[in-house]
Amino acid sequence: MQKIRAQLDAQHIIDLEAQYVVHTYPRPPFVLTHGEGVYLYDSAGNAYLDFVAGIAVNALGYGDAELTAVISEQAGQLIHVSNLYHTAPQAELAARLCERSFADRVFFNNSGSEANETAIKFARKWARANHGEGKTQIVAFSSAFHGRTTGALALTPREKYQAPFRPLLPGAVIAPFNDAEAAAQVIGPETCAVIVEPLQGEGGIHEAAPEFLRALRALCDEHGAALIFDEVQCGVGRTGTLWAHEPSGVTPDIMTLAKPLAGGLPIGAALVTGAIADVIHPGDHGSTFAGGPLVCRAAGVVLDRIAQPQFLARVAELGAYFKARLEALDSPLITDVRGRGLMLGIELTIPATDVVEAGYAHGLLLVNAGPNVLRFVPPLIIEKAHVDELIEKLNRILSTMEKQA
Ligand SMILES: Cc1ncc(COP(=O)(O)O)c(C=O)c1O
Repeated sequence: MQKIRAQLDAQHIIDLEAQYVVHTYPRPPFVLTHGEGVYLYDSAGNAYLDFVAGIAVNALGYGDAELTAVISEQAGQLIHVSNLYHTAPQAELAARLCERSFADRVFFNNSGSEANETAIKFARKWARANHGEGKTQIVAFSSAFHGRTTGALALTPREKYQAPFRPLLPGAVIAPFNDAEAAAQVIGPETCAVIVEPLQGEGGIHEAAPEFLRALRALCDEHGAALIFDEVQCGVGRTGTLWAHEPSGVTPDIMTLAKPLAGGLPIGAALVTGAIADVIHPGDHGSTFAGGPLVCRAAGVVLDRIAQPQFLARVAELGAYFKARLEALDSPLITDVRGRGLMLGIELTIPATDVVEAGYAHGLLLVNAGPNVLRFVPPLIIEKAHVDELIEKLNRILSTMEKQA
C-alpha cells in the first residue's frame, strides 16, 4: 500500500513538472528522494548505484556526516550577505585554493559556465591592458564543452547547442583538439586566450596529450595570450591528482573550477595568477551570490578531504582497477576505453543512451558523453565492491544488447 501510494505521488510530481517546468531535460520516470553513500533512492524505495554523481559533482557521495554538519552549522550562522562585506569562509577557501595550486588569487562564481565567463573577461582585460585594443580572439578546441552561457557557448563547438542562439560571442576560433601544428596556425598576435580541458568530459572523455598542453603553453607565451585550463569537470581530485593538469607539468594562467568543489552546492571559481589579478579592479566584475559563506564553508570541507594524499592515491588506485575491469569486458559493442582516475568512458557501437536507459531497471545510474560514449564519474568515495557491482550489471546489460543487435 505504502509503495503504491509513493508511486502515485511520483506520477503527480512528473505531471506537475511536465506542466510547469520548461522542457529542456528528458528524465526517466521516477522521482529521487534521498541518497546514502553512493546509492540514490526513489519514492518507491528502489535503490540505484550512482555512477553519475550529479554529473561529476557529488564527490563525497550522499549524506556525508562532516559535510552535512558543517552546512547545517553554517546555515544557522550565516548563509548570504553579498560581496559587499567580508566573511571568513570566502577568504579561507581562496587561501586554501591558492596554497594548493599555481594561483595567486581567486574570483568566485556560481557555476562552471560563469567561471569560464570570468576567465574570458579577465583574459580580455589583461590583453587590453598589456597590448591595447584588438587582441580579443579566443581559441578553443573541437569536442570541447565550456558551458551554455553565450560566451562559453561560443567556445563549445556543437552545432545543436549553438545554432538556435547565434550570434554568439565574437572572436571565438575552434581548432582541432590535440593537434599542436593546427593550434600554431591559429594562435597569433590577436589571440588573448586559449581555453582547453586537460581531460574533455562532455565531448567524449578525450585526454589532452601532455605535449599538446606544453605546445599550447609555448604558443601562449610567444604571443602574449592567457592559457586557461577548464577543470570544471576533471579538477578537484577526479583524475587521481588534485588538478588534472598536474602530470603534464604545465601550469595555466587561469584555471576554472566548479562541479565538485562545494559537494553539491552551486559554486564556480576562476583561479588566476597575480599578473591577471593585477589588471582587475573594483567594479570590473561581480556576482550577488558568489563566494557566499555557506557554499565556501562547504567547499573548505570538500577541498580539505580530497586534497589529502591518501584520498587522491585511493582515487588513482580505484580508477586503475576500474579501467582494467572495463578493458577486460569482452563485448563486441565496446570499441574503446578511455580516461583517467574516476573519469572514465567507453565508446560503443550503439547509442550510449540505450545503455543508460537499460541501467534504470538494473538499479544503475549512468550518463553518456556525446552519442556513443558511456561516461563514468561516480562519487570519489566508491569502493572496489561498487566497481564490481557496476561491472557485473553493465556486463548483463551489454550481453542482452549484443543478442538484440
Ligand atoms: C568542462 C566543463 N566546463 C564547463 C561546464 C559548465 O558548467 P555548468 O553546467 O556548471 O555551468 C561543464 C559542465 O558540464 C564542463 O564539463
